[in-house]
Amino acid sequence: MGQFRLAVLASGTGTNLQAIVDRLHGADGIEVVGVASDKPGAIALERAREAGIATATFPAGDYPDRDARDAALADWLGERDLDLIVLAGYMQLLGPSFVARFRGRAINVHPALLPSFPGLDAVGQALAHGVGVTGVTVHLVDEGVDSGPIVLQRAVEVPPSRDRDELEERIHEVEHELLPEAIRLFAEGAIRVDPDNPRLVHVDDHARD
Ligand code: GRF
Repeated sequence: MGQFRLAVLASGTGTNLQAIVDRLHGADGIEVVGVASDKPGAIALERAREAGIATATFPAGDYPDRDARDAALADWLGERDLDLIVLAGYMQLLGPSFVARFRGRAINVHPALLPSFPGLDAVGQALAHGVGVTGVTVHLVDEGVDSGPIVLQRAVEVPPSRDRDELEERIHEVEHELLPEAIRLFAEGAIRVDPDNPRLVHVDDHARD
């Protein structure tokens, strides 16, 4: 396998970034070559530095508007010869020019079974709705909020206690498996968007775990 280069966008704690670094970085030709954030204080950036990965920050206050910020971020990513951009807890919506530039090459992890509970606080939404099963989705990034074509999904049962911390912990554990798995499938060239129906993403069966 040749080199497969990815960058991660993260706004917060970066446990998903850590899972990617621990499970994939430096193995089988997969390299995390950059981590960018909108939050200069994000713990994700510390994790990246610890792993010797280049970092950059794009705080909203440094730019006149979202398009200008997105353009700076896109240029930074564009210089890195990337195969994939991974949004792992990146809490900003990316504008249409950014999405168009990286279409099919950017994925996001969302803590619910989309199309249920898109947007903020998906875990809280699921609990408030009273579902018995929620989960994790990895999807391609499009212009909407958590609306892009679904790559992988896995269900997570809501614990009988309906305890938020416990559910969040279960969801995080699944995220930390599912997101690296999706990246590995991209690196193996096993992911293909259906040419006749761009909502459908095909995963080569032989590449599945
Ligand atoms: C994850 O639950 C992810 O699904 C959501 O934001 C959270 C990020 O967690 N979009 P972390 O920063 O990776 O720990």
